[in-house]
Amino acid sequence: MPQPALFGQFRNSLYCGDCLNELDRITNESVDLIYIDPPFYSQKYYEVIWDESAERYAFEDRWRGGRETYINYLIERIRKMRDKLNSTGSFWIHLDWHIAHYMKVELDKIFGQANLQNEIIWQRTSAHSDSKRFGHVHDTLFFYSKSDVFTWNPLFGPHSPEYVEKFYRFPDRTRGRYRLDHIIRSQSMGPRPNLSYEYKGYKPKWGWRVIREKLEKLDRDRRIEWSQTGRPYLRRYLNEMKGTALTSIWTDIKSVQAHAKERLGYPTQKPIALLERIVSATSNLGDLVLDAFCGCGTTMEAAQRLGRHWIGIDISQTAIRVVENRLRKIGAPAPQVVGLVETEEQLRRLDPFEFQNWAINAVQGRHSTRKIADMGIDGFTFLENHPIQVKRMDDVGRPVIDSLVGVLEREKDKKGMVIAFSFTRGAIGEVARLKRESGIEIQLLTCSQLLAGLSAKQMTL
Ligand SMILES: C[S@@+](CC[C@H](N)C(=O)[O-])C[C@H]1O[C@@H](n2cnc3c(N)ncnc32)[C@H](O)[C@@H]1O
Repeated sequence: MPQPALFGQFRNSLYCGDCLNELDRITNESVDLIYIDPPFYSQKYYEVIWDESAERYAFEDRWRGGRETYINYLIERIRKMRDKLNSTGSFWIHLDWHIAHYMKVELDKIFGQANLQNEIIWQRTSAHSDSKRFGHVHDTLFFYSKSDVFTWNPLFGPHSPEYVEKFYRFPDRTRGRYRLDHIIRSQSMGPRPNLSYEYKGYKPKWGWRVIREKLEKLDRDRRIEWSQTGRPYLRRYLNEMKGTALTSIWTDIKSVQAHAKERLGYPTQKPIALLERIVSATSNLGDLVLDAFCGCGTTMEAAQRLGRHWIGIDISQTAIRVVENRLRKIGAPAPQVVGLVETEEQLRRLDPFEFQNWAINAVQGRHSTRKIADMGIDGFTFLENHPIQVKRMDDVGRPVIDSLVGVLEREKDKKGMVIAFSFTRGAIGEVARLKRESGIEIQLLTCSQLLAGLSAKQMTL
């Protein structure tokens, strides 16, 4: 059973494994902000050649088990995530148009409809050609709080050129554009004794908006302007203004472009500016940020840069290695890394249970219950649920294939997978024969293939 993190002496952590299990390492109600960007329900298939290491790696993003399967898969994990949030924490999920609306209904049930603070529309690109309909150019992010009291730091963006043109009409050679604001009180504000005084021969009927000392200071600073009719105004300089409060439509952050400096080559990498915005708005310095589908670690980098603690979880060994590297490059102290196996030697030293976990995780499979394991099934393939047998052995031969065929017959299935250190020629030949003569497809995967980041395409039966 994983041990909960020690929060007295917190160390940033990366956990490699299915977040459903890895979340158990984290103390309940200890996390301030969770962002997740789960694999999209999009029928897309990604494959990349890693920029840096030329390592071949693929990313499976298909959910042939159907929408319901996808939704249930996420809900089970998100429920656990909610338990990890403290009472002022918030939860962000990044989705696209295929699934956002279905998930919103489920998320309302988990977090409460009243706790949905925003549906953010992130316009990630400006052009997307689609001959038969309008181009899809945005993703949807839902921002839920755990309760009605939550961390919120308002953020501002630059005013639009139209706004500047309309309101900041006056030029100042040294301080830039400014607008005129009221410095005297209106009738509706009523008089206040300490604000009722004469300044430079002018005594407003309802008084000033600031005390005399403040007004004198503003005037010395050339911030009081007298109109031609002799009425005083306050100059507000554009470059001293906070800007316009950000809204729920974000159009100013572009997705990671092919030649972007931040690009790591990881498919679905999100821009750092997006995560910095989320982390800044909904967490404070020293808070704990969790990304349970962390990919190449954009959330981790944003949290690190902004002085937050962080925990990243990803099922992919490759992803965790990339995050480690990425954080090292920005000078972050080495995190605690759990679940990463780098060599076949390390794999051979794992106990049978850990080894089996590693193998099932490596193909993003589902672990079997003890009852099923006794029947010769160690796990099931990713969403398609075909039996997997894991053998911590070299030279796995025909008897193992025969036994799996027995399992498949019993389960009325035609596909299965065996994971081992190596296979005999007899086993390989038998698998070819079964496919040819009886349409049974058994995939043989070696640990070294998995370690090398075997493509998800090959893994998928
Ligand atoms: C869309 S990507 C995340 C990209 C990330 N936001 C970034 O900027 O790099 C989804 C990630 O979820 C991981 N993943 C898939 N199933 C998982 C699971 N059950 N537990 C943890 N991670 C999982 C995948 O390996 C992949 O790296």
